[in-house]
Amino acid sequence: MQRSLYNKRSQAMFKIAICNQKGGCGKTTSSINLAAGLAYEGKKVLLVDLDPQGNSTIGLGVTTENRQTIAELLCQDECEVKDIVQDTYIEGLHILPSDISLSVADIKLAQIQAKEFVLRSKLADLRYDYLIIDTSPTFGTLLTNAVLTADHIILPVGLDYFNLAGMQNFMDTINRTNKKVGQLVNHRAEILGVLFTFFKMTTKHSKRIFDAISELFGDKVFNTRIPENVKIKESQEAAKSIFDYAPGSPSALAYAEFTKELQGRLSYVRN
Ligand SMILES: Nc1ncnc2c1ncn2[C@@H]1O[C@H](COP(=O)(O)OP(=O)(O)OP(=O)(O)O)[C@@H](O)[C@H]1O
Ligand SMILES: [Mg+2]
Repeated sequence: MQRSLYNKRSQAMFKIAICNQKGGCGKTTSSINLAAGLAYEGKKVLLVDLDPQGNSTIGLGVTTENRQTIAELLCQDECEVKDIVQDTYIEGLHILPSDISLSVADIKLAQIQAKEFVLRSKLADLRYDYLIIDTSPTFGTLLTNAVLTADHIILPVGLDYFNLAGMQNFMDTINRTNKKVGQLVNHRAEILGVLFTFFKMTTKHSKRIFDAISELFGDKVFNTRIPENVKIKESQEAAKSIFDYAPGSPSALAYAEFTKELQGRLSYVRN
């Protein structure tokens, strides 16, 4: 596996960051299940856990004990992807794991020259079909690194007011990053779509938030909505994707549908 990681593919990798500064809106859940959904469709997928909480890592049952993680990849010149990449229990899905040591790395990274481009350069020329980056809910160097690596951004949102309230700030951050740093390397990350998570439109409030976000993002909103369902929480406790933990559940069907919708949208964007 290790040697083939760096061979060039004829078609470029899709690089997707799953971001939103709102905590707990479904970034990690969507990262894990999109990555798993793509792998189950036969794609080669690298999930990058760029959050010191390490939830994508834990959620797939991967351990960082006595192993190097993405903290070393970002802070040590000599550390390469092949030194930290781990298999997951799903064939075709590999992970760059993270744990709390990434919070110290975040501070160290601030002192590195061209700190915003470290992830981008370390992940250049990998041989995967998809790169999925799970990000933390804080603005900072780690998020900037994700935005400067990914071509596409998926914004998961729940149906409560704080989701709506933070969206303009988030969009401003992406635009500022593209303009101030992205253009130095001719890079621009675009919002690929907004994904409704925790979808349960049972109150007037949730309907209002849904309408407001739909109006703000228009056809960027994915048709697929992920319903709120306890099987998601249970799947993470069991360290499994929703497809393995509860196949046939509404959440598994929704993430499968989302995986398909995303691929359709990407093929449209690429052509
Ligand atoms: N569709 C859903 N139905 C029920 N629970 C969900 C759903 N999606 C996510 N959850 C649960 O909500 C919590 C937050 O989800 P998740 O960790 O994916 O959010 P996050 O945006 O990654 O959070 P953070 O900002 O802390 O990184 C988790 O406990 C997860 O199991
Ligand atoms: Mg998370």
